[in-house]
This record gives sequence, structure tokens and C-alpha cells, in this order.
Amino acid sequence: MKQVKQLKHLSLVTLTLLISGLLTAPAIASEKAVEEPTTKTEGKAPEAEKEARFIWNFATIELIAKGDAKNGEKLAKVHKCKKCHGDTGISDEDDTPSIAGQPAAYHVKQMFDYKEGIREEKTMAKKAKKLSMTETADIAAWYAEQKPEPSQSGGKKPPALVTEGDMKRLLLPCNVCHGKEGQGYGYEAPALTGQKREHFVDLMTAFKDSDRENDHYQRMRFVAGQLTEKEIEELADYYAAKPSEE
Ligand code: HEC
Ligand code: HEC
Repeated sequence: MKQVKQLKHLSLVTLTLLISGLLTAPAIASEKAVEEPTTKTEGKAPEAEKEARFIWNFATIELIAKGDAKNGEKLAKVHKCKKCHGDTGISDEDDTPSIAGQPAAYHVKQMFDYKEGIREEKTMAKKAKKLSMTETADIAAWYAEQKPEPSQSGGKKPPALVTEGDMKRLLLPCNVCHGKEGQGYGYEAPALTGQKREHFVDLMTAFKDSDRENDHYQRMRFVAGQLTEKEIEELADYYAAKPSEE
């Protein structure tokens, strides 16, 4: 019975993904494929090898769906995630991300990317390498349950880029991918609400300068690459102050 329920849940999730257009090529792979780089890259340019190797397939979806939040809380303590990301995923430092309420799927992908050096950052690479993908899914499940908080006061009206985009630059509204409340959407798009201002600016600048290259189909590099510094700061202020979804 449990299996049937799980399958139902999985097909619902997959359906949502297909509808959202965020999943283009689901593939079946073994559990082992989750632990290792999942795409063959022979014959491709060196940069292509570094990019976007995480694959959304039944193995990864199942791994994430089975995340055990209770065990995850324990692991977050043992691995000292709380030291930097705060007791419940709300960080005290402006340049360290808050990860409370971050969808588990996004969290797991980022840890995979850190582990494989696809998203380059030494501290997190070291942490990610110490965890199995199952442990990562457990930790991600716990953080996903925590409530995000605005990281600064003075919530503002959303900038037009959030709600309307800018068709002259072929920019879709952020909301289309990141959700109406900036709460994350589908499997791929992270929550932005409550993110630390400085970290947000760092992330967008990294995409803009192609220092961060782990976004599938270069979607965020395309978006950030066309924004001015002022626009990035306005967006950072908006998301940092935006109250979380009740
Ligand atoms: C020494 C401080 C430190 C510790 C300990 C730490 N982190 Fe991090 N973490 C960071 C910093 C700084 C970043 C931002 C790195 C970057 O810009 O890529 C980060 C990024 C992340 C991200 C990506 C967030 C985003 O917005 O993209 C996740 C997920 C994450 N950490 C989870 C964890 C987990 C889980 C643990 C424990 C196993 C952990 N971290 C331990 C400092 C830390
Ligand atoms: C076409 C879909 C799409 C649009 C439009 C889009 N994003 Fe994204 N964004 C993504 C995806 C997918 C990721 C995850 C990339 C990855 O896997 O690392 C992402 C990641 C991000 C991140 C990194 C968050 C973190 O914690 O690591 C930020 C910040 C971000 N987007 C901001 C924005 C803003 C601001 C806009 C509007 C100006 C926007 N995005 C528009 C799809 C989109």
C-alpha cells in the first residue's frame, strides 16, 4: 500500500514538473547513478563537462521524496550546518545563505553540484563530500520544513522584473519560475524569499559573470547577464524583505 501511495505521489510530482515545463528529459537510472556524475560527456568541450550534470530521474526524485527530516535534523547538528546556517536555517551572517524553507530538491541538487565541483565553493564542497546522497536528502527534508523569515524590514512593491519581466530583453518574470511568492517552484527553481541581501547580490553577480555555471540550460546566466547592478540590488532588497508565505 505504501508503495502505491509513493508511486502516486511520484507521478503527481512528475506531472507537475511536466506541466511547469521545468522538466524536459526524465530518464530512468539506477540508485548508483545518483551517487556519481550522471551524464556521459565524451566528445564535448571541457566547459560542457563541468556544467549541469545533475539529472532529474526516478532515482533522484525517489531519493528526495524519501528524505527523513527527523534524521536530517540530527545530521545537521553532527555536521555543524547550524553553525553557519543558524539553528533553523536562518543565517546570522549577511553573506551566508538562509536555507530554511528551501525546497528539498533544490537543496539536494546544490549539494551534488558542490560535491562534484560543478558549483565551486570550498567550504561547501568539503561538507558535501562527507555526506552520502541519502544523508543529504534527509538534511534537505528537514531544512525544507523550516519557515523562512524576512532578513530585513520594509517590504516593498515587487519590481516589474518580478511580476512582468521585460520582453524587450526576452526576460520572463522571476515569478514564472520562482513562484508567485518567491517560494520556489517545481523541482528546479529555488525559494528566494527571505534570502540574505548580500548573498543574493553575490549569487546574481556570479551568474552574471559566469562564475557560477551550474544552472541547467544557462537560464540564470541568461537572466542575470542582462541585469544592471542597480536592478540586482532592487531585486535583492525586495526578496530579503518579502514576508514569507503564511
Ligand atoms: C563554515 C560555514 C558553513 C557550514 C558549516 C555549512 N555551510 Fe552551507 N554554505 C555556507 C556558505 C558561505 C554558502 C554559500 C556558498 C556559495 O556562495 O556557493 C553555503 C551554501 C549552502 C547551500 C546553497 C544555498 C543557496 O542558496 O544556494 C546549501 C544547500 C548549504 N550550504 C547547506 C549546508 C549543509 C546541509 C551544511 C551541513 C552539512 C552546511 N551547509 C554547512 C557556509 C556553511
Ligand atoms: C526560466 C526560469 C527562470 C527565470 C525566469 C528566473 N529564474 Fe532564477 N533560477 C532558475 C533556476 C532553474 C535556478 C536554479 C539553478 C541551479 O540549478 O543552480 C535559479 C536560481 C536562481 C538563484 C539562485 C538561488 C540560490 O539560493 O542559489 C537566484 C538568486 C535567482 N534564480 C534569482 C532570479 C531572479 C531575481 C529572477 C528574475 C529577474 C529569476 N531568477 C528568473 C530559473 C529561473
